[in-house]
Amino acid sequence: AWNEAEAAAIIASHRHREGPLLPILHAIQAAFGCVPPEAEPLIANALNLSRAEIHGVVTFYHDFRRKPAGRHVLKLCRAEACQSMGGEANAARLLATIGLDWGGTTPDGRLTIEPVYCLGLCANAPAALFDDMPVGRADAARLETLVREAA
Ligand code: FES
Repeated sequence: AWNEAEAAAIIASHRHREGPLLPILHAIQAAFGCVPPEAEPLIANALNLSRAEIHGVVTFYHDFRRKPAGRHVLKLCRAEACQSMGGEANAARLLATIGLDWGGTTPDGRLTIEPVYCLGLCANAPAALFDDMPVGRADAARLETLVREAA
């Protein structure tokens, strides 16, 4: 859960580094499972930046979450090689089937689906990452099996 004092301590421990923003964001996410909106003004104050600047960075990098993820995370590659192998259509179908948008989590907290931009598995496109397991040739059937087995 969000803890302002803990967040402030994290920020204080990184703020004097060179280029402190990304290390701070990573450390906040490691502690809280996401970069909650409440963190933005704290970071902005500490680094003398505007809240909009912090927000821009958080939303630019796909690694940062706005809300904690579910127990499993399925990342689907949306970069070019995977797109050309039907990745987008597979993803759209899967998201529609389980009723999620990109970045969404099932109501039971079981699964989050996130975009990723190239996993280095282009030769086996379309590619996915299920928790830490790389999945090549992630066609619609393969994705549905993964989702079904995610407990
Ligand atoms: Fe999808 Fe490289 S484009 S893994």
